Amino acid sequence: MASRVGCPSALNTVGGNLISHLERQGGWSIVGLSRRGGVDAGAVRHVAVDLLDREGTANALAELTDMTHVFYAAHQDRPSWTELVAPNLAMLVNVVDAIEPMWPAIARFFELEVAPPLPMSLADVMADKEEVWNEMVARHGLRRTPYREVSSWQFGDFVFGWDYDVIADTSKSRRAGFHEYVDTEAMFLSVFQDLRDQRIIP
Ligand SMILES: NC(=O)c1ccc[n+]([C@@H]2O[C@H](COP(=O)([O-])OP(=O)(O)OC[C@H]3O[C@@H](n4cnc5c(N)ncnc54)[C@H](OP(=O)(O)O)[C@@H]3O)[C@@H](O)[C@H]2O)c1
Repeated sequence: MASRVGCPSALNTVGGNLISHLERQGGWSIVGLSRRGGVDAGAVRHVAVDLLDREGTANALAELTDMTHVFYAAHQDRPSWTELVAPNLAMLVNVVDAIEPMWPAIARFFELEVAPPLPMSLADVMADKEEVWNEMVARHGLRRTPYREVSSWQFGDFVFGWDYDVIADTSKSRRAGFHEYVDTEAMFLSVFQDLRDQRIIP
């Protein structure tokens, strides 16, 4: 069975050599990503995309839902180490979010449609929703939870609103022997299920 592999970027030193290697190995269906694109041949298909463009990346990669592997080899050069971080991290995050989005699973859990990202302040938008919450509690027969205890919207604004890079390195714990981890999507869904079981959310 052929595996599908995403390779940002397809035309560079590392990506180009990797694609040649996979072609020689056989059994791969390869999608190469770069701004320049390329001529499709054999098992290799090229998609021209600017990985710094978050929305463009999400659109260009939306059909790539059956990836088995991603070999990431895109690179943006900058004059200093500190300047290298932001664009290279952004490209990596854009690719991973586009190929493995978590929102569809969360939307399915709540039987909602996924909408495009809409930046907002939760503290502002949710300030006048107490009445809506109380109606939801009544309509779905939920346990009575005062609206002020439902969530800390300010905390949501804080964690979802970082405008600086956060690099969380958990390799120290792995070096110390902690190899188990919980899949983020599975953890979110189990927390939502727990809240549903307790009749706190519908
Ligand atoms: N070369 C080596 O010997 C070597 C060895 C070990 C590790 N590495 C590491 O491997 C990575 C790649 O190195 P490389 O030498 O192969 O780099 P490279 O030849 O400069 O290739 C960079 C690639 O990234 C693509 N790219 C840049 N910006 C992009 C964007 N906004 N959207 C989409 N694609 C973009 C470029 O394609 P487009 O311009 O068409 O977009 C190009 O194909 C680097 O992190 C490097 O440190 C390299």
